[in-house]
Amino acid sequence: MSQKRQLRLGAIIQGASGNMSAWRHPDAVADASINIRFCQQLAQKAELGKFDFLFVADGLFITEKSIPHFLNRFEPITLLSALSLVTQKIGLVATLSTSYSEPFTVARQFASLDHLSGGRGGWNVVTSPLEGSAKNFSRDKHPEHDERYRIASEYVSVVKGLWDSWEEDAFVRNKASGQFFDAEKLHTLNHHGKYFSVQGPLNVGRSPQGRPIVFQAGASEQGKAFAAEAADAIYTRQETPELAREFYQDVKRQLLANGRDAEDIRVFQGISVIIGDSLSDAERQYQQTAELVTLPSALDYLGRYFEHYDFSQHDPDAPFPEIGDLGQNSFRSTTDEIKHNAKARGLTLRQAALEAATPRPTFLGTASDVADGLEYWFTSGATDGFIVRGGTPTAFDDFVDQVIPLLQDRGLYRREYEGQTLRENLGLREPENQFAARQRQPEKVTA
Ligand SMILES: Cc1cc2nc3c(=O)[nH]c(=O)nc-3n(C[C@H](O)[C@H](O)[C@H](O)COP(=O)(O)O)c2cc1C
Repeated sequence: MSQKRQLRLGAIIQGASGNMSAWRHPDAVADASINIRFCQQLAQKAELGKFDFLFVADGLFITEKSIPHFLNRFEPITLLSALSLVTQKIGLVATLSTSYSEPFTVARQFASLDHLSGGRGGWNVVTSPLEGSAKNFSRDKHPEHDERYRIASEYVSVVKGLWDSWEEDAFVRNKASGQFFDAEKLHTLNHHGKYFSVQGPLNVGRSPQGRPIVFQAGASEQGKAFAAEAADAIYTRQETPELAREFYQDVKRQLLANGRDAEDIRVFQGISVIIGDSLSDAERQYQQTAELVTLPSALDYLGRYFEHYDFSQHDPDAPFPEIGDLGQNSFRSTTDEIKHNAKARGLTLRQAALEAATPRPTFLGTASDVADGLEYWFTSGATDGFIVRGGTPTAFDDFVDQVIPLLQDRGLYRREYEGQTLRENLGLREPENQFAARQRQPEKVTA
């Protein structure tokens, strides 16, 4: 019966939980990234824990040095379509790149996922950090970082326009009169922009939640500005509650500057967790998982952020090497952070690589330590919620069994889903159909 603002949670589905070598852990399902039974169990466990959504990350380029579970994994929309049939309430958020796809296809895929699932679909818009992706899509060149965001901006407005092709009650299907749809409620986009020309309309009716939820992942200034313009939710990773609070306030400021309401967006911090019977038990579990990562694999892991740069050519025990601007056109916010951190703390290459590849979970300790940490971040204005990843193969189950009940007892977290759609559960407003809104207020039609 608490009136408290409610914490929101997403669950990552991405191979065996833990670091890049977690598949080697004695408790791991080694083929988790391509095992539908594993994904189904995780989805159902998350739904038991009343999670808002499942979240599937993605990438479009691999080499033999990529993280093992990236080498053989499900395409996100295909996976979530399958999971939509074995879950009832949990949201289904798939990552898809605006740099290597077409708006019409993507609008149609997410609208379909939304209809399949009764309004539970979400799209994590990414611009693709990896330069090699161009080679898989018949392109000469990976678009430059800021250009990728300009493309994304136009792309998402086209997709939203396509999602508004049909008003909610457009399909009358009157058998007696023979009228299948109401032509007044059909809208053709006719978009001609810098990057895309798309006529429309979309061949899928309006989403049960108005439009699928748009997530944005990417923490650079361009990423944040894009989120403030177009996203319903943000997936980010900040190291401390202070940094997270700054990020949160900055996003809200930009949202207001764009004429949107501060409540129009939900910010999620990506975290990993390990829960033990005691702090030293949790620490032991972390060490057990960390020891699975070898130095060569950690150097490969680090290199991937920097356009698959070969760090093994440097002395691992010398200071982190000077590599210039490498990384600016890929994972910019992440590579800036790695370089800054290595310099500020005087790390050797070995230390930087092992830290990157075996990150300490943000929340590690007993269930009540973890609940305390989440509560502090949440109530001190650092975030609206968390996207949770287990720090060991069994940590996600521990989180649902042990931490969720504590959050519920503290009145911070739901015991039942409030609604049927992802939008309802996230407490976000349903967007108006832009064409219907303009017809109602013709004087507001501007370029
Ligand atoms: C928390 C987080 C999660 C991300 N997840 C993905 C992902 O699953 N797939 C992907 O291609 N890019 C992902 N990205 C990369 C961004 O979409 C973007 O392409 C890249 O980081 C450069 O943008 P930025 O400099 O704004 O962070 C992620 C970025 C962040 C910060």
